[in-house]
Amino acid sequence: MSKQTIQPARALNGGLEPPGDKSISHRYAMLAALAEGTSELRHFSSAADCRSTLGCLRALGAGVDVEKDRVRITGHGLRGLRHSRRTLDAENSGTTMRLMAGILAGQPFTSKITGDKSLVKRPMRRVVEPLRQMGAEIEARDGEFAPLEIRGGELRAIDYAMPVPSAQVKSAILLAGLFATGVTSVEEPVQTRDHTELALAEFGARIEKEGRMIRVHGFGAEEAARLAPKSFDVPGDLSSAMFFLSAGLVLADSNLLIHRVGLNPTRTAVLDVLSSMGAQLKIVSLECGTGEIVGDIAVRSSQLSGGVIEGKQVAQLIDELPMLAALGPFTEWGMEIRDARELRVKESDRLAAMAENLLRMGARVEERSDGLRVEGRSAGPLRGAEIDPHGDHRIAMAFAVAGLAAQGPTVIRDAECAGVSYPEFFSELDRLAER
Ligand code: S3P
Repeated sequence: MSKQTIQPARALNGGLEPPGDKSISHRYAMLAALAEGTSELRHFSSAADCRSTLGCLRALGAGVDVEKDRVRITGHGLRGLRHSRRTLDAENSGTTMRLMAGILAGQPFTSKITGDKSLVKRPMRRVVEPLRQMGAEIEARDGEFAPLEIRGGELRAIDYAMPVPSAQVKSAILLAGLFATGVTSVEEPVQTRDHTELALAEFGARIEKEGRMIRVHGFGAEEAARLAPKSFDVPGDLSSAMFFLSAGLVLADSNLLIHRVGLNPTRTAVLDVLSSMGAQLKIVSLECGTGEIVGDIAVRSSQLSGGVIEGKQVAQLIDELPMLAALGPFTEWGMEIRDARELRVKESDRLAAMAENLLRMGARVEERSDGLRVEGRSAGPLRGAEIDPHGDHRIAMAFAVAGLAAQGPTVIRDAECAGVSYPEFFSELDRLAER
C-alpha cells in the first residue's frame, strides 16, 4: 500500500488539463462496442474504472486498442457481442457494473459480472428490478448484491419512474431500452447527468426528452438497425478538476487555469455553489461540439463563505460532496450537507469516512444519518494527520487538498486508490503546488 505525504503549500499556480471525463468515457466505449465499425475516442479517461469497462467489452468480443489516451473500439453491431466464458470484472466501478447490466440484459446469452470488495457491497436492486420488468432474468446475491448473473433475451419496453435519482440507473434502463421492442421511458425525480442521452443521440439512436422524462426507441427485432461509429474528443473531467479548483481557492496566492474541461450543465452545479460562496471562478472560453460543452476555467484564491447543501442539489453534486465537506474548515460559516444518505453507499461510506478523517485533522464535525455539519474557520486551523481513505479515490484526493492547506504534513494511506479516477493526481498536485 503506497503512502503519500502532502506538505503544506502556499499556492497552486499554472495550467492543468484534467483527464478525459470518466462518465463520458464509459458511455462512449460501451456504445462504440455496439456500433458497426471502428470508433476513435481521443483523450479517453485514464481512470482505472474506465479500464474496467474496456476489459468487459473486450471479453464480450469488441475490438479494443489502447494507445496512451487514444482508444479505438471496433464494434460488430447491436447483435455483435458474444458470450464471455470468464466472469466479467467491474472491479471498483459502479458505473461499469450498472450500465453493463443494462446492455447484458438485452443479449441472447447469460453473463456473470462481479466487482471488488467495495463494489460487491453496493446496492444493485435499483438496476435489477427495472431490468427484470423488461424481461431479463437476473440473480443477485441476497437479491441485492453482485455477483450478478444476467440471462438476457428479448426485452419489452417499460415506463419507469425512478425512485432514487441515479444517472447510472437511468442509463442502464436506456441502454436496455435500445434492445427492447417499443419505446422505453424513464422519469427521474431530479435531473442527473445526461451523458447517456447525448451519447445515444450521437451514435444514431432515437431518443427524446420532455422535462424529466426520457424516451428511447428500441430496435427490438429490426434486422437493419445499426449504430454508427464515432470519432470523439472526450472533454476533461470536471469532477477530477474539482480537487485542483478547490486547492486553488483555499491556498492564498493561487492562480490556476484549467483547460478543456467538460461543462455540461448537468455537471456544473458545483461551480454555481462555489460561486455563490464567493469563489472567484471565471469560464474563459466555451465550445460546444457533439452535445457536450467544453471550456477553460480560471481560478483565483478566494474567501469562501460556506453554506448548506440539501434536497435536489445532492444528486447534482453527488461526486463533489467529499471535496465540498473538506472545504468546510476553510470557510467562514462551515459546510452543512443534508439529505445525502446516498453517500453511504458509494465507493465507501463517504459520510463516515469524511467525518473520521476531518476529526483526525482537528476539525469540528457532526456526523448525521444523512449528512454532516463541518464547522468553519472559527473552529481553528486543520492540522496535518494520517488519513485513511477507506480505499475511496475521492476521499484520498479531498484530504490531499485539505492537507495542502493544513498545518504540518499529512499522510494519505493507500494513496494509489486515487487511480480509480485520476492516476496522475499526486504528480499533478506536486507539479502545481508552490511552497
Ligand atoms: C455516475 C453517476 C453517479 C456518480 C458516479 C458516476 C455515472 O452515480 O456518483 O460517480 O457515470 O453515471 P449514481 O448514478 O449512482 O448517483
